Amino acid sequence: MAVFVTGGAGFIGSQFIRDWVARYPEQTLINFDKLTYAGNPDNLIEVADHPSYSFIQGDICDADSLRAAIPEQCDAIVHFAAESHVDRSIHSASEFVRTNVLGTQVLLDVARERKTRRFLHISTDEVGGSMADDEYYREDSPYAPSSPYAASKAAAEHLARAAHHTFGFDVVLTRTSNNYGPFQFPEKLLPLAISNALEDRPIPVYGDGLQVRDWVHVADNCKALALVLEGGNSGETYHIGGRLPLPNRDVLRLLLSVLGKPETLLTQVTDRLGHDRRYAVDCTKIERELGWTPEIAFEDGLKRTIQWYQDNSAWVNRAKSGEYRNYYQHQYGGDIHEPVP
Ligand code: NAD
Ligand code: DAU
Repeated sequence: MAVFVTGGAGFIGSQFIRDWVARYPEQTLINFDKLTYAGNPDNLIEVADHPSYSFIQGDICDADSLRAAIPEQCDAIVHFAAESHVDRSIHSASEFVRTNVLGTQVLLDVARERKTRRFLHISTDEVGGSMADDEYYREDSPYAPSSPYAASKAAAEHLARAAHHTFGFDVVLTRTSNNYGPFQFPEKLLPLAISNALEDRPIPVYGDGLQVRDWVHVADNCKALALVLEGGNSGETYHIGGRLPLPNRDVLRLLLSVLGKPETLLTQVTDRLGHDRRYAVDCTKIERELGWTPEIAFEDGLKRTIQWYQDNSAWVNRAKSGEYRNYYQHQYGGDIHEPVP
């Protein structure tokens, strides 16, 4: 069995790889990653020397590199590689279109050429856009992406589904809600808030902070991905979520109380443009068909995550010392989220 993973040096992909290698130590696993600012080899130290694991630095938009890297009759491709941060897409969308849309098509083409047996396409609940208060996003609900990131992920889904419909390629798709856990790059809300709180620095709260997100632990998500890869029906989409949509302010208050830090650290800043108000996914299908259910309760998972960031300050400092620290200043000449007086 040979599994080819794209974007495996990122947050979710690295968790998938660590789990897969531990579970199937005899299987060949190839990690193909461009190592953008979000790709961090430190995430894979645990498996780096494992005999069945190998790493190839490459870009999914480069067909020749993919041809050289994907084994003939590869058993499975698990496609995580993407530009993943909504704020970055608002300020510059072209890299999102290049990697998420063009890159997905190039990968699909080469995957078929190499006679890959199954293709797992990783997508997001954001392709459905904002949900009303009592609404849950189902697999058959309409597409309504709001941000350039979500639009590029929706386009990628269409291409993956088209490969299944047109060529009979064995594609399965997943849409996950907000993941949290160890090794998440500190530009996303929870790692940013934890690392700022640990340094007694203000935590930026976009707008009124009442936007709702549905948090799922990355380890639970990766269990679901493995189930879909191994048992999902061809051409089908499966939703994965934590079944607990929560307002950002409540999550941040809980985080501060776990750390024993004051709520005065919460600092309202200008809102994200076009900010989706509420995400909430309906996970009934994966629960019913594949028997998956999230096992890690949010409060427990959050405590474990906070502990991980406390224990791994070297990882956080290395992740933050790169391009990230000066990103907004370099690109746009200022902080995009100004404090609200
Ligand atoms: P991430 O930003 O942490 O990692 C992305 C990885 O892709 C990095 O290792 C990066 O180097 C690599 N990459 C980027 N461009 C590439 C290219 N052109 N060629 C090869 N590699 C490239 O992302 P993540 O949070 O781990 O998300 C992984 C996937 O899951 C993405 O497709 C994302 O859209 C999706 N997703 C994420 C979440 C979440 O909460 N983080 C939720 C739902 C879906
Ligand atoms: O829903 C799945 C999506 O979740 C994934 O597809 C994306 O790849 C992933 O980045 C995530 O998108 P979000 O925009 O929801 O995540 P983010 O961590 O950027 O923001 C979470 C919420 O917190 C959102 O409502 C914006 C808000 N926020 C974010 C940051 C970084 C703040 O209030 N302050 C912040 O500093």
